Amino acid sequence: AEAREAAVGRFPFKPVAAATDHTIHVPEGYNWKPLAKWGQPLFSNVPDLDPAKGVSVENSDKVFGENTDGMELFVVGNHQLIAVNHEYVNPETNLPHAEKGNPKTADDVKILQNMQGVTVMEVAEDKDGWKIVLDSPFNRRIHHNTPMKLSGPAAGSDLVKTAADPKGVDCLGTFNNCGAGGTPWGTYLTCEENFNGYFGTTDAAFKLPDDYKRYGIVAETRYAYEKFDARFDVAKNPNEPRRAGYVVEIDPSDAKSTPIKRTALGRIKHENAAVVIARDGRVVVYMGDDERGEFLYKFVSSGIYVPGGDTSKLLDEGTLYVAKFSDDGAGEWLALTPETTGMKIDEICVFTRQAASKVGATTMDRPEWVAINPVAIEAYCALTNNSRRGEMKDGKLRANAGGDAMAINAANPREKNEYGQIVRWYPENDDHADGKFKWDLFCMAGNPAVHKDAYAGSPNINEGNMFNSPDGMMFDSTGLLWIQTDGEDTNEGNFAGQGNNQMLAGDPATGRIERFLTAPKGSEVTGQTWSADKRTHFVGIQHPDAPFPDGEGKLPRSTVIAIKRDDNVKIG
Ligand code: FEO
Ligand code: CA
Ligand code: CA
Ligand code: CA
Repeated sequence: AEAREAAVGRFPFKPVAAATDHTIHVPEGYNWKPLAKWGQPLFSNVPDLDPAKGVSVENSDKVFGENTDGMELFVVGNHQLIAVNHEYVNPETNLPHAEKGNPKTADDVKILQNMQGVTVMEVAEDKDGWKIVLDSPFNRRIHHNTPMKLSGPAAGSDLVKTAADPKGVDCLGTFNNCGAGGTPWGTYLTCEENFNGYFGTTDAAFKLPDDYKRYGIVAETRYAYEKFDARFDVAKNPNEPRRAGYVVEIDPSDAKSTPIKRTALGRIKHENAAVVIARDGRVVVYMGDDERGEFLYKFVSSGIYVPGGDTSKLLDEGTLYVAKFSDDGAGEWLALTPETTGMKIDEICVFTRQAASKVGATTMDRPEWVAINPVAIEAYCALTNNSRRGEMKDGKLRANAGGDAMAINAANPREKNEYGQIVRWYPENDDHADGKFKWDLFCMAGNPAVHKDAYAGSPNINEGNMFNSPDGMMFDSTGLLWIQTDGEDTNEGNFAGQGNNQMLAGDPATGRIERFLTAPKGSEVTGQTWSADKRTHFVGIQHPDAPFPDGEGKLPRSTVIAIKRDDNVKIG
């Protein structure tokens, strides 16, 4: 059986056509089932989500949260655990009693806070498929009030001290958990992306500090936490948003463990954290900052990873770098240090975007996930889109919030980039810790049915595989690249023929890309991992429209699905 599996080609599936309906399509010979839906209980004494009432405040930290995103599977003894992010909430559906979902009480705010963050859940497969193991001692919700530690160079800095935490080391909650990563030592890395949306103030006299602008922190928020929970009122706690925007390390094997915010990895709108061990054993973490004209980063640890050794400081001590892509196909990692930036080390870790602007990093078309090829020394980043690159305003090029002009460059070559691209780099000396790299574009997404010019996309894009806005991205163990999209699904105009969001597989060796899955209308496909035996591919469906997955008339629910082949051979 093993030999037969190995003999299956790079694309062991018949590609699926674009779709515009409300369900999932996978290739012939594959099947899918829901594993975990928004509001589904993790414990047996908790009821399932009631669409008319939502989830009660008492139960809101005991159910699977909303809007599933990045995920990783961990094997602990005989147990398989999935750690999975819940990026954001829809207040209207979580607070059905509140007009337009506007919180009316502190309990309303607490429900919203609890339905986001991270779930750790044990999963198991029986003859009917995969299920959450109710009441498993590993089951845990981490949310906006979970106690955490700040560590690394910004821990204890004046920039992160608050009245409630005068030492600047004990913080609460992780926010807008988007992409993720896993370490070789069995921990989960959850990434705080649009954290700015949770902090605000009703104090019209409060002048927002200058550093807020670069991160988009403004007075008014959708969630209105600041009206009921003073911690989120920036007039009272101006440092509180400086304690969010990090990569947070979680030990899924211990439900009592304290998550740790690793400030050495910088404060940006973190997409994911892709970890690889360099030739000499140092830990390399690649990270995108998802905003127009922001940058791509890399952390390299000072210490080396020794299996079974002490890993507690590996993500605290090291150097943060930002990428510069030259138009000749070469590239360089620029170190962010007090010498190169003129900033103190804690300032670099808290005001990372500002530090990166000082060294001349390349403005990118919204860096989303980074994926590292396990069978070749190369990495990929999905640059999802950028409708404003190259655009002029008042006689000046559009810039990011720090003022870095977004001129077109070879890695981000399109003015009004509605489709996105995937950039790939090859570290010099076959070493991910090296300071230099060569790069190329794995693909330029486009629409060859609508355009005959550069907006048709690169030669590996055709009418049978076209898509827009690549976002989630991960390699399977065989070296096949799985690309998920979060784009326009109007199927009209520039997007005609592309259908709903989708998941595709790409072959790094040939550049061939084939469509594997189409998602329900309104949703994006985000987050994926594989079972220990690689016979199941878990995939996240975020923000579907009705009626997914429960059918006509039911509330739409973001869902992690389990995909298998009917003959149960390995698929990852
Ligand atoms: Fe949450 Fe950049 O995606
Ligand atoms: Ca994303
Ligand atoms: Ca996206
Ligand atoms: Ca999303």
